[in-house]
Amino acid sequence: MILMLQLDYRNVTSGVIGEEHGLDLQAEFSQYAEQIKHIITDLNSRKDKPEQWLQWMNLGYNEETVWYVKEYASIVEGRFDNILVLGIGGSALGGMAVCEALLKPYWNVLSTEQRENRPRIFFLDNIDPDQMTALLDSIDLKRTLVNVITKSGSTAETMSQYMIVKDRLEKLMGDDYRQNIVATTDRSMGYLRQIAGEEGYKTFVVPDDVGGRFSVFSAVGLLPFALVGINIDDIMQGVKDMDLALKNTDINENIAAQNALIHYLMDTKKGKNLSVMMPYSSRLKYVSDWYVQLWAESLGKEFNRNGEKVNIGPTPIKALGATDQHSQIQLYNEGPNDKVINFIRVDHFDSTLDIPKIFEYTGIGYLGGKTVNDLFNAEADATRVTLTDYQRPNVTINIPSVSGYSMGQLLYMLEVQTAIAGELYNINTFNQPGVEQAKNYTYALMGRAGYEESANMLKSKM
Ligand code: PA5
Repeated sequence: MILMLQLDYRNVTSGVIGEEHGLDLQAEFSQYAEQIKHIITDLNSRKDKPEQWLQWMNLGYNEETVWYVKEYASIVEGRFDNILVLGIGGSALGGMAVCEALLKPYWNVLSTEQRENRPRIFFLDNIDPDQMTALLDSIDLKRTLVNVITKSGSTAETMSQYMIVKDRLEKLMGDDYRQNIVATTDRSMGYLRQIAGEEGYKTFVVPDDVGGRFSVFSAVGLLPFALVGINIDDIMQGVKDMDLALKNTDINENIAAQNALIHYLMDTKKGKNLSVMMPYSSRLKYVSDWYVQLWAESLGKEFNRNGEKVNIGPTPIKALGATDQHSQIQLYNEGPNDKVINFIRVDHFDSTLDIPKIFEYTGIGYLGGKTVNDLFNAEADATRVTLTDYQRPNVTINIPSVSGYSMGQLLYMLEVQTAIAGELYNINTFNQPGVEQAKNYTYALMGRAGYEESANMLKSKM
């Protein structure tokens, strides 16, 4: 096992950023050692039990799904030029994060040869009519495999997308359109399951007790990855190795527990309840989007487990280095000291880009002869040191390179970190009542049967 991820938390300690903003981590780690041990043991002992919503901790070992996904991907190989994923929130963000990280940048504009005959992939994770129309008008639907992903099988955004695409496909292809749709949904519940059965679509299952934002290593993510030729074995190996490492109940050895505790203490003791995710890698851009959903929906809660009204939760923010040095960092350095910044730093990039030795007679001459890689990591280091000078707490997750293995490790580590943080806050990490309410109001406004009372109430509020 190669544990590729390292967490550098020196810059949250009082020794480095001072007592007002920093933590005495040695003392905190000893104080929380027993509680963390209990949390990790408890999560691992509950993960196989029904209705605990911890089945995501078993996904790395789900060889059956990996087999079925690969088998289907090999059957349809060469038949489609495009994969179109219809889904939203947890049904899309993990897929987007991994595809952006592991496919060559600008994948969809590369030639077929450059893509080694593998299909393009589009994630339609919104219902903006202009965006949808533009996409559906620009791809050849006959040569497109549509993967509809919704655990509930009823999400209005996804189901309306599906209805539009199905209608277009049927008009184009007659009865053959069914070959172009594959559904990923609950094994027995929901309208999509019902429709898929009636229509005869190929289907994959979102396993029981796996919530959307924890579903990236189920068929929700694995199917799109396999369809575009991403090596899912590497990803799953990363998940398994990280899972093994995170079973360690000693906080001194468990990076997910460390970062969860750091965020929890920064929020509850130091008033820093904003969590910025800032990878220095464009390929990891959507990891920030995925993290924002994971952290926000899991930890933002009105009530704790004792039924007390707490209205807690650290607010996640997405950022990208070096781009956001030129938009957000001024605020992070000099504005309110209310954030923990998570850097992701990549040691080795797949490409090395030399900066030519030109214009040596000008002030930009110093750049010549260096690489963009040097510049990128110099900027990451400089930003981190500057924030530290300003006594702004920051941690760095180091990964040697962006690979399937490191992505499996990174995303799984962040999932476990979120689960541990939820336990520290003593809340239910796995529900989302605040999202359900808006979903129900939308149903009422759109005239769904059974929601008439809410519709009348809403009209009076609008
Ligand atoms: O994490 C979650 O549970 C949510 O973000 C869901 O993934 C999102 O609301 C989509 O739900 P569904 O997969 O049921 O369409």
